[in-house]
Amino acid sequence: MSDTAAVLTVSDRVFQGIYEDASGPALAAFLAARGFEFVEARLVPDERDQIEAALRTFAEEDIALVVTTGGTGFSPRDVTPEATCAVCERLAPGIPEAMRAASRAITPHAVLSRAQAGICGRTLIVNVPGSPKAAIESLGAVIAALPHGLELLRASRAQGGQDHGCA
Ligand code: MTE
Repeated sequence: MSDTAAVLTVSDRVFQGIYEDASGPALAAFLAARGFEFVEARLVPDERDQIEAALRTFAEEDIALVVTTGGTGFSPRDVTPEATCAVCERLAPGIPEAMRAASRAITPHAVLSRAQAGICGRTLIVNVPGSPKAAIESLGAVIAALPHGLELLRASRAQGGQDHGCA
């Protein structure tokens, strides 16, 4: 069975209707093309409490993978990584490390993304930057590893076991 996936677009300007959301639909199509069952897209402004609430709702809905887009940079309103860390019990630093490493081959500005990834219950949350180009480049750098990570995350809880074996 394929893993479920959702996208959270975090943007004041998209929320206010100034821009159309390009990254959310691009990520949804990308995830569906790679075998995920895309179930939900949400949009919130760059408000930490609203980002946290949306992430917790996704986790309560038991969605396997949540990709957030936007709010990872240096602007004072960019708080997606902080909201992500607040709701996650464990971080998964290898994911943003790999995204930034791959993205540095494309642009030196890649290091300006403060993206995080982590685990909230049975849900893996991955931050990517806000532009559709950066979002797909970033997720594309790690997507191949995610099904195995989700298998480990979701199987171990279901069994209540401590099997952390890695194929
Ligand atoms: N990563 C990739 N792969 N491609 C990009 O074009 N842009 C960078 C960086 N990461 C970029 C990228 C830039 S310019 C910024 S400011 C940060 O992501 C943060 O973006 P955000 O504030 O939209 O989240």
